[in-house]
Amino acid sequence: MEVKTSLLDNMIGVGDMVLLEPLSEDSFLENLQKRFDHNEIYTYIGSVVISMNPYRSLPIFTPDKVEEYRNRNFYELSPHIYALADEAYRSLRDQDKDQCILITGESGAGKTEASKLVMSYVAAVCGKGQEVNKVKEQLLQSNPVLEAFGNAKTVRNDNSSRFGKYMDIEFDFKGDPLGGVISNYLLEKSRVVKQPRGERNFHVFYQLLSGASDDTLRKLKLDRDFSKYNYLSLDSAAVNGLDDAANFRTVRNAMQIVGFMEDEVQSVLELVAAVLKLGNIEFKPESRCNGTDESRIKDKNDLKEMCELLGIEQSVLERAFSYRTVEAKMEKVSTTLNVAQAYYARDALAKNLYSRLFSWLVTRINESIKAQTKTRHKVMGVLDIYGFEIFEDNSFEQFIINYCNEKLQQIFIELTLREEQEEYVREGIEWTNIEYFNNAIICDLIENNQNGILAMLDEECLRPGTVTDETFLDKLNTVCAEHQHFESRLSKNSKFLTDHSLPHNCFRIQHYAGKVLYRVEGFVDKNNDLLYRDLSQAMYKANHSLIKQLFPEGNPAKVNLKRPPTAGFQFRASVGTLMKNLQTKNPNYIRCIKPNDKKASHIFTDSLVRHQVRYLGLMENVRVRRAGYAFRQAYEPCLERYKMLCKRTWPHWRGPAREGVEVLMTDLQVPAEEFSYGRSKIFIRNPRTLFFLEERRRQCLEDLATLIQKIYRGWKCRTQFLLLKKSQVTVAAWYRRYAQQKKYKRIKSATTVVQSYTRGWQARKLLRELKYQKRCEEAVTTIAAFWHGTQVRREYRKFFRANAGKKIYDFTIQRIIQKYFLNLKSTMPSMSPIDKNWPTRPYLFLDGVHTDLRRIFHLWRCKKYRSQFTEEKKAVYEEKLEASEIFKDKKALYPSSVSQPFKGDYLEISKNPKYQKLNSAVDEKVLLADVVNKINRANGKGTARIFLLTKKSVVLADQKTGQVKASVPLPDLSSVSVSTQTDGFFALRLKEGSASAVKGDFLLSSEHLIEIITKLHRVGATTADMEQLNVDISDEFLVQFKQDKVCVKFIQGVPKNGNSVSCKRKNNRLLEVSVPTTP
Ligand SMILES: Nc1ncnc2c1ncn2[C@@H]1O[C@H](COP(=O)(O)OP(=O)(O)OP(=O)(O)O)[C@@H](O)[C@H]1O
Ligand SMILES: [Mg+2]
Repeated sequence: MEVKTSLLDNMIGVGDMVLLEPLSEDSFLENLQKRFDHNEIYTYIGSVVISMNPYRSLPIFTPDKVEEYRNRNFYELSPHIYALADEAYRSLRDQDKDQCILITGESGAGKTEASKLVMSYVAAVCGKGQEVNKVKEQLLQSNPVLEAFGNAKTVRNDNSSRFGKYMDIEFDFKGDPLGGVISNYLLEKSRVVKQPRGERNFHVFYQLLSGASDDTLRKLKLDRDFSKYNYLSLDSAAVNGLDDAANFRTVRNAMQIVGFMEDEVQSVLELVAAVLKLGNIEFKPESRCNGTDESRIKDKNDLKEMCELLGIEQSVLERAFSYRTVEAKMEKVSTTLNVAQAYYARDALAKNLYSRLFSWLVTRINESIKAQTKTRHKVMGVLDIYGFEIFEDNSFEQFIINYCNEKLQQIFIELTLREEQEEYVREGIEWTNIEYFNNAIICDLIENNQNGILAMLDEECLRPGTVTDETFLDKLNTVCAEHQHFESRLSKNSKFLTDHSLPHNCFRIQHYAGKVLYRVEGFVDKNNDLLYRDLSQAMYKANHSLIKQLFPEGNPAKVNLKRPPTAGFQFRASVGTLMKNLQTKNPNYIRCIKPNDKKASHIFTDSLVRHQVRYLGLMENVRVRRAGYAFRQAYEPCLERYKMLCKRTWPHWRGPAREGVEVLMTDLQVPAEEFSYGRSKIFIRNPRTLFFLEERRRQCLEDLATLIQKIYRGWKCRTQFLLLKKSQVTVAAWYRRYAQQKKYKRIKSATTVVQSYTRGWQARKLLRELKYQKRCEEAVTTIAAFWHGTQVRREYRKFFRANAGKKIYDFTIQRIIQKYFLNLKSTMPSMSPIDKNWPTRPYLFLDGVHTDLRRIFHLWRCKKYRSQFTEEKKAVYEEKLEASEIFKDKKALYPSSVSQPFKGDYLEISKNPKYQKLNSAVDEKVLLADVVNKINRANGKGTARIFLLTKKSVVLADQKTGQVKASVPLPDLSSVSVSTQTDGFFALRLKEGSASAVKGDFLLSSEHLIEIITKLHRVGATTADMEQLNVDISDEFLVQFKQDKVCVKFIQGVPKNGNSVSCKRKNNRLLEVSVPTTP
């Protein structure tokens, strides 16, 4: 690729002053003018950019231009502020070096514009994205806001910055903006109350009145007419090319973008309106009786409106304008203010209000744009400070502004001229010293702690006694008289005594940029920057949150009697901090030059430019650059950067870095005069050489990239191929396996089919043979069987015939019996022992069996029935059984007793209290208790007696009294006699000779005869020492009555007297009992 060196080729004039030949002030200016005339406003001195203010818009700040300069080498294209911005941004992003852009030049030289160009370039080339774009927008939009409040039209510049601004833009490691921090330096607040002729107040006042809607103005109690406001200078209210109304909209829009809330914007506008109102408050003198003058407010309308705007009580503010309270050692002294003092107080309040509002704006913007993340930031600082200025009437503000510019010049000198030369010496490079003017001496005059002007001013301000601007000047005249750069008529230095250009109330300083005459008037006041406490307290009382915030010292709870630091002191301290900050960063210079004093394009005032070139030290800059080296770099990073240009140093150089760089340079055949080896750095004389190296490096990187690409592609293809190959082998293996498996299965199934056919055929053949064989065997067997059958039948025919009848008979009988039993099974009677049913007999020959079966069945079911009996029931049945054995078929009474249960104790003798005595008389358990009739022996009549039977005896007792009449031990009984009839007569016959036999036998009758006799019989059977009682059953038996034996005879006859049975004594020997006839 062809090397494009537009910096050096086809150039209008010389793009880099270092290459100017011959070098002189004239040729320098000529070159500048030539370029300026051809709209080339930027020229380099090495890496420093000289910028000429074109005073018109040029088509060189378009997005195309941004693209053109993006990522290009500094010297590659024609000089441009973008090249510097790009260089700074890339070195911040790629080399992690914090940067600062130092823009210097006098008022109107184009610093603010340059700073905006740098910011917009960086914003255009850095990262994009929703969040990043928001940050960028906020950073960029902070400019219009601050310009509206901090810039004003001066005679030198229609948009002159009246404050110093340093903005740190913070970036992350990728180079994307994260946020920023703005520092502001001393606003020229005196402008709020008074503007020099031909100048304006701050833009915002005019913008508000021109641009705000009628409604807003009404709310702010303002009038659109500028002339209504004392604080606005009228002769230059309209500025050519400035559209205040449009700018107001821009500012409001910008405030919104930056993040101001609607109510915040409103508060800000209210404060601006209040300042305007404040300016209209006028005072008139009023003499008091003690002869002193007092001030009174002329027209209270403005005061009232202002108080309404800020929410202040009118009387409080009115009082603060009339009195001043001085507090000292717990004492408060109030003095009245005269008219001049009242005006002073009013203006002080207006200035303070405005400058504090400005500082609040900066703080508020900072709040919005501050970086959100806490990671380490890379920082690019952009310094745009008010430029050096010389007015007709220069005061404290100009002194401060110019001091600041001195400091900047100092830092420029420090870093470009002195540092550079010192570095050559340090590095052992052959060097002839170049003279330059070092303004350190002027800085010292101003800022020296002991006898510097600012220190003197502070001393005066703090000194007790009468202090005026004149006493301050006197002090300067004494202390600084000998200083080369200090001039004063009254100094001890006699050479100025006759200098009429130097008024008595002035002093003059020879700044680096020219002599400036300062009028001391107001120095002490402005430095003190005091606001009467009554005013700050009145402000604090305001019912307006912003105002309250701005005057914290007005809080009565926080009264601080200590003096606040002076304005000069504060400024010196903040400039000191700024300088320290700048020294930690890599500086990039833009030196702005103003081509004419008329703010006009195309005019190049030679003398004016020459002056600036001189005081900016540009010639020295070029000389140092030319005598020196355009570029330097430590050996290690240099070798690291260019080592790929030489085979011996690539990829690694093992020796010391310096030797590596020497090898590199030799190998690249760079002419020896183009570079020098320092102790730790290599110095390259011309940018062209550096560019040559850079170009070679770029090409080499391209080649290397191609090589890397080549190797990578090769590797990638190889890897891909190997992967494909491996995959193919795997796929093939799997496919072959699959195909073989399929083939094998096919062969296997074919084989199985063939095998099955063969086996089938063989099996069928075998089956056929076996079937044939079996048929043969069956045929043989059948034939044999038939044959044997024939043989046997033939043999046994005679035997068969002889037995056939019996067999048939047996079979028939068997079948009949079988059928009989089966039939019997289904017609069985019930299991009740008294069920008399029984199936009829089918065949006569079964008669015996049938009867037996009936009996067996009956016995079996009786057994079954009995097995269910309880012990008591069993005993009852046993008694019944015994009764049956005794009486069945023997006595006609018996059948009627079968259904009667044997109750035993009919009298319930143990329970009935009537028989208690009787019961106790009997020892044994009573087996039977009943009422019987004792038959009188004499007449045969019956007497009722209680009959008790125990195990041992029979007791007869009186039925009524229960008295025992007779007790017969059972062993004394020999027998019992009863008739065969249905009567209940029985005779207990006693053994002869026994004790009981004395009275004779007992003839008794009972309804429960069967039971009584059975029980008596049973007792005899179960008692061991007793013989079993005999029971005689006959219709005639003898009864022993004492010595007589009487026969009791039973006859069947008709009963008399309704009695069923009647007994009658027939004679001494016979007792006849007639019993009804048995049916
Ligand atoms: N690059 C430029 N292109 C077009 N006009 C420019 C350019 N630079 C400056 N100007 C014009 O010059 C005017 C003054 O420039 P600028 O405000 O940047 O000066 P300054 O150096 O900041 O002055 P001060 O120190 O007073 O703030 C601008 O308002 C603008 O009209
Ligand atoms: Mg400016």
